[in-house]
Amino acid sequence: MMTAQTPATRPANPRFSSGPCAKIPGFDLTMLSDAPLGRSHRSTVGKAKLAEAIDLTREILNVPADYRIGIVPASDTGAVEMALWSLLGARPVEMLAWESFGEGWVTDVVKQLKLDATTRKADYGHIVDFEDVDFDKDVVFTWNGTTSGVRVPNGDKIPADRAGLTICDATSAAFAMDLPFDKLDVVTFSWQKVLGGEGAHGVLILSPRAVERLESYVPAWPMPKIFRMTKGGKLIEGIFKGETINTPSMLCVEDYLVALKWAQALGGKDALIARSDANAKAIRDFIATRDWIADLAVDPATASNTSVCLRFTDARIKDGAAFAKAVAKRLEKEGVALDAGAYRDAPAGLRIWCGATIETSDVAALMPWIEYAFEAEIAAQG
Ligand SMILES: Cc1ncc(COP(=O)(O)O)c(C=O)c1O
Repeated sequence: MMTAQTPATRPANPRFSSGPCAKIPGFDLTMLSDAPLGRSHRSTVGKAKLAEAIDLTREILNVPADYRIGIVPASDTGAVEMALWSLLGARPVEMLAWESFGEGWVTDVVKQLKLDATTRKADYGHIVDFEDVDFDKDVVFTWNGTTSGVRVPNGDKIPADRAGLTICDATSAAFAMDLPFDKLDVVTFSWQKVLGGEGAHGVLILSPRAVERLESYVPAWPMPKIFRMTKGGKLIEGIFKGETINTPSMLCVEDYLVALKWAQALGGKDALIARSDANAKAIRDFIATRDWIADLAVDPATASNTSVCLRFTDARIKDGAAFAKAVAKRLEKEGVALDAGAYRDAPAGLRIWCGATIETSDVAALMPWIEYAFEAEIAAQG
């Protein structure tokens, strides 16, 4: 039985969680000292902060000028639910899912809204074939499957002249992948992902066609205040200028602003994407030379550059789930990777977050530790 050697170098920051994700490099709570604490979010200063968050989001993500951007309650889930409950039911629906969050939206639409939707699913590691999708229906999908490490490669298969709306949960994609806004009518994300912000606040981006739907269609079901985006058949424009539906945390707003300014100084979206790409490449270069670990994503064209999911493939492994858990636990105990186990509903393995706030040097330093933990657990199996 070989004794595994601990690697010489440790990641400087062991936070590889897929949400909440690592804060921006060098983050310190004193960076939030300009937060207007104890002031109303409807005061001049409060409204200015919220408007700045919207403006910087538009600038960095390159959101078209005629798309609305709103800060909404309940994180990405809140933003998606607002869209589903407000927009669906006007025309037939297709639901696409390739991992647990996408499946959650299927459940919502089929079991809660009770819509007779066409559902297309792909197994973990794969994506549904967009060639089969009818974009004259409303289509709901997740851009990046956070729990499967598989993403939509681009918007090429979404027709520009579609009759339906495309509703896209982009929470682990925004700020890390190019989102083709001309092909997307609703885009949602939360602050806690790629920019390392805080939970509880969502962002909802609407195309002019989505707004047109909101103003011309009233769903058959009741609409709680927290989801309501129209009044008297007109869009409540204030929501998209920073007049939030209810009270946001101005501390979280400040934190998001600090992250947006970090992103802006870095060079914006392209620089953020480059950082994620470099992080994911560091993992894929490592696993390419190992025969005991593999990417859960089957096709490199759809492999994520944020939530990289790995599975152990060694024939000596006796209980796959227990083995993967033990490796993740060992990495955590060594203090080299926190929260790096696969998502509870996903196939057993590891999930290493590679968003822009992660340093490539930390990803590279983690790789030998994964090998170490793997060997140690093989030995421990007896
Ligand atoms: C694809 C996807 N959708 C939705 C969510 C839920 O996000 P939140 O907890 O910010 O509402 C997550 C969280 O990880 C996610 O990865």
